[in-house]
Amino acid sequence: MASFLFTVCLSFFFLAAGVRSATPKKAVDVPFGRNYVPTWAFDHIKYNNGGNEIQLVLDKYTGTGFQSKGSYLFGHFSMHIKMVPGDSAGTVTAFYLSSQNSEHDEIDFEFLGNRSGQPYILQTNVFTGGGGNREQRIYLWFDPSKAYHTYSVLWNLYQIVFFVDDVPIRVFKNSKDLGVKFPFNQSMKLYSSLWNADDWATRGGLEKTDWSKAPFVATYRGFHIDGCEASVNDKYCETQGKEWWDQKEYRDLDANQYKRLKWVRQKYTIYNYCTDRVRFPQPAPECKRDRDI
Ligand SMILES: *[C@@H]1O[C@H](CO)[C@@H](O)[C@H](O)[C@H]1NC(C)=O
Ligand SMILES: *[C@@H]1O[C@H](CO)[C@@H](O)[C@H](O)[C@H]1NC(C)=O
Repeated sequence: MASFLFTVCLSFFFLAAGVRSATPKKAVDVPFGRNYVPTWAFDHIKYNNGGNEIQLVLDKYTGTGFQSKGSYLFGHFSMHIKMVPGDSAGTVTAFYLSSQNSEHDEIDFEFLGNRSGQPYILQTNVFTGGGGNREQRIYLWFDPSKAYHTYSVLWNLYQIVFFVDDVPIRVFKNSKDLGVKFPFNQSMKLYSSLWNADDWATRGGLEKTDWSKAPFVATYRGFHIDGCEASVNDKYCETQGKEWWDQKEYRDLDANQYKRLKWVRQKYTIYNYCTDRVRFPQPAPECKRDRDI
């Protein structure tokens, strides 16, 4: 409550001072069923508190997952997640947007579990027109299994920003001018899943899932979606400028956000495809922009 009041006061201060903040509009928590449906292994999803909180359960038989009812072209999407606690090695919890066709676009958060006390890795990736290979990996500055944290994506015609709480951890600018495809005309659904990936997830697959520790449980709240629902109104969504996320202050990060992104780069980044000269002797064109961060 205190922090809410503080935020309200702060907002008034900024409005009064005429300062525009580029932090996305505050997300509104809704029950799971408002925006999402289970995708597979329905009996491995548990509903608490009228569906305001859900749990995904992974055991040796199966993982599980869910997806958004709607398809969206641009917007702001967020989820509060408490990752699998304790020994989560070999498990992967994912939250992502993906289009449904073959030349698909995708925006990924993947949380790679670890042995008790060892750090999770957050891997992000962006696919455009079917092409990915844009992995970045960071450690988090907190234990993501101890409490809820918010993971969100802001997507407009100018940029895709990945946020962890209020910190931008990655920005993928529209680099059409450099010949790079950018997701602009294909709607995406949101997906989340928890599954066993012990062939690659933890220390490159060396650490296997310890099934004696099953079931593995990830907990979710929030389910916030504020996007242009494409199935309803395709052409409208492609028209720029009508929604809050199209507005000027959301077309680039502000100075403070760049500062925080730099902090993530310097302190927490463990892999960036843009600096991997072994895999990419010739870096991807958009990496030219990445260098400036
Ligand atoms: C989106 O645009 C690309 C490139 O112009 C094109 O190849 C693709 O078919 C378009 N997709 C849709 C769903 O319109
Ligand atoms: C797991 O812990 C090891 C040892 O601290 C670390 O090298 C690795 O990056 C951690 N994360 C994953 C997902 O492998």
